[in-house]
This record gives sequence, C-alpha cells and structure tokens, in this order.
Amino acid sequence: MDWVARAGAPLRGTLAIPGDKSVSHRAVMLAALADGVSTIDGFLEGEDTRATAAIFARLGVRIETPSPSRRIVHGVGIDGLRAPDGPLDCGNAGTGMRLLAGLLAAQRFDSVLVGDTSLSKRPMRRVTVPLARMGARIDTEEGGTPPLRIHGGQALVGIDHTLEIASAQVKSALLLAGLYASGDTVVREPHPTRDYTERMLAAFGVDIAFAPGIARLRGGQRLRATDVAVPADFSSAAFFLVAASIVPGSELRLRQVGLNPRRTGLLQVLRMMGADIREENAGNHGGEPVADLVVCHAPLRGIEVPEALVPDMIDEFPVLFAAAACADGPTVVRGAAELRVKESDRLASMAAGLCALGLRIDETPDGATIFPGALQGGAVQSHDDHRIAMAFAVAAQRAAGEVRIRDVANVATSFPGFDALARGAGFGLDVAS
Ligand code: S3P
Repeated sequence: MDWVARAGAPLRGTLAIPGDKSVSHRAVMLAALADGVSTIDGFLEGEDTRATAAIFARLGVRIETPSPSRRIVHGVGIDGLRAPDGPLDCGNAGTGMRLLAGLLAAQRFDSVLVGDTSLSKRPMRRVTVPLARMGARIDTEEGGTPPLRIHGGQALVGIDHTLEIASAQVKSALLLAGLYASGDTVVREPHPTRDYTERMLAAFGVDIAFAPGIARLRGGQRLRATDVAVPADFSSAAFFLVAASIVPGSELRLRQVGLNPRRTGLLQVLRMMGADIREENAGNHGGEPVADLVVCHAPLRGIEVPEALVPDMIDEFPVLFAAAACADGPTVVRGAAELRVKESDRLASMAAGLCALGLRIDETPDGATIFPGALQGGAVQSHDDHRIAMAFAVAAQRAAGEVRIRDVANVATSFPGFDALARGAGFGLDVAS
C-alpha cells in the first residue's frame, strides 16, 4: 500500500492521539507477571503492542479485550509463565524483543524470539552481552541479529552495569532480568533515557530506587496487580506538532499528550526553531505528566540541534527533518548515530527521500545537515519504517506537487488510523495501491 500526499487545507481541530507504545508494551508485561488482575486503559491498538500481548497469551496469560484500547490482564505471578509451543513473534517491535529477552532469559523454559524483516536486521548484542554477564544464555545469528534462542533454567546474578549507549530498551531488559536475579541489579546510563520501566515497576509494588541515569532493584520481589492509564503517545503527536507548525493558517489541539521529560526533546527543539506550541490543562495520567498541546503555524528557523537532547527525541528525527526542510536556514544534527539502527537507517531514509523531493542533505556518520528549500513532488520510499512514512506525509503538506510514499502498511505498528485522523484535520493524503 502507498500513500499519495499533497498540500491540503490549514490544519484545524482537536485530535485524540492513540496510547503510548512504550508504556503499552511495559503495561502488558508487568501486568502478566503480577499477582492479581490488572486493567490497562488507553492501550495502543498497534501491531507492535498487540504482538507483545499475543506473546503473553502464548506464555499462558489470559488477556481480555472488553473494548478497544482496554485490556484486562489476569497476572500469573512472577514464576507463572508457561513454556510456549513454538517461536514467539515480536513483529516489528524492537522494544518487545529486547525487553522480552531479559524476561525470558530468567525463565525455567527455553524460548525463541523472532521478528519481521526489519527487526531481523537489528542489533541484539546490546542486550545479550550484558544479560550474559548476569548468567543468561542467548544465541543470536552470527551478526548479533534475531532470532534469539534463549536457554532457560539459568541462575541469574545481579550486576552493576554501565550502558555503552543510552538505551531504555537495554536498561529495561536488565531490570526485568534483575527481578529474577540473586542480589541487586544496578543499571547506569551515559545519558538518562525514558524511565517507564522503573516508574511502572514501582506502581506494581516493586521496591526500586531510581533517579535520572541510574536504577537499582533487588531480585526476588513479587509484583502486585494495579490499573494502568496509558497517556497519548508524544511520538505520534509529534507528526501533528510539525505539520501544524509548517502549514500556514493551522491551529490544532492535541488532547492530553504524555510529556515525560525523557520524551519531549522535540518540543524544546521546535520551540528553539520558533514554533508556537502552548501547554494547557496540565495534569497527571497514571503517574505521567500530560497536557493539551495547542500548536499554531509559525515560521521556523534552522538550528544546531543540541546533542544533549538527542536521547530525549530519538524517535522524532524523521519528523524533525520535515520541519527542517521547511525552515529558514540549515539545521544541523550530530551525535545521532543510533538512528542508523532503528526500524530503518533513518538518517539515510530521510536524506534519500528529501533529496528525491529536491532538497540538499549532507549526511555524516552520526547526523546530517538539512538545507531547506522548495519541496517538489516525487516518489519516496518508507523503507518499511512507520515514522519515515508519516514524516513524508507531513513534509508533503508543503510540497509543490504530489508525493507518492511507498509501502506505508507499517504505519499500523505504531499509529493505526493515522491517515484518517490526518485527513480529518486537513491533510492532503490518500491511500493508493
Ligand atoms: C524505546 C526506546 C528507544 C526508542 C524506541 C522505544 C522503549 O529505543 O527508540 O522506539 O520503549 O524503551 P532504544 O532503547 O534502542 O534507544
């Protein structure tokens, strides 16, 4: 499936953005391990998070779906998972696979984690190597890629580990394994990353100490069921923040978006570029800060993106490139080599697509300089990457001609219904086969 995108109307209205992907994955995992029944509200009905829920069903956890975006999870207790009857399919989800690697490494039974073509190319040694230090036995393919063949029945020991790269997924894998390990598990980060695992473990009654850049827990604890309210996903809201900023006459209200400080680097960067974004009706949703984001069109100027903000906006670079394409003056990105190992090589994917639409992009190993200009029509590849597809739908709202975005089915992994929501707000965006 392709999209054909073109300049539409000024973007107007009030939008409800789907639930947070990171929080939804973790909510299913911890609810499954808890003693008792947990309800999850605002669960993301995306392919990634549904794959994680399906895996727990295969591990013997009863999960009901009384209505869309709601799950009732009958926890089996920390030692209650059952051996699966075959490989477990994580789909496109790096978060699902890496967190499950930690959790399954600690079980009595063997398991195998597989993924789709994109996930099957992604690096897994970043989790298997530190987990091996804890006593886990996980085989990868030769290049360190999936499938992950996990040998159960290992006695894990807690470690004090400093991450080489800032990664919430690796941190979370170690903390989940640490629940089963003897002694303390301590994870230190070169730069603080999203702390949903830590916050949610605390909400499920685990005694865990954490502060930005460090987390420590003791093995052998049990989890107590609790209800989880999932906030709207800032990373999904980001497409509309940029779209309304670059389309003249726009004013959008995005309702009750999650504003965890480790996620909102793009908000700071867009404001540095001159964006007009207000926070209203601030509140708290399941322990996470939330607010309505009201965004109006404003002229943007190019900036040097502060390297310190990169981890806080790691998923927002594709749409930042769209903003930078429409700014006044070049935008420089550095210190973002991690983008090369996301669902696609996001530096290369965005550079190739923006070049195809007539812009100049100078790529470096860990970043790029985006030179803005008049976007032309043309055809771009999504590289089967949901965020690349949506970023080009946004950029196309300022293009002089039609932009064909190839292979967009993958958008359903994180943002099912994006095209209908965007069309309703004023986007020029049609499905083409
Ligand atoms: C995520 C962490 C980030 C992010 C991903 C979700 C998480 O990955 O890019 O979309 O939920 O922990 P890394 O941990 O690889 O940086």
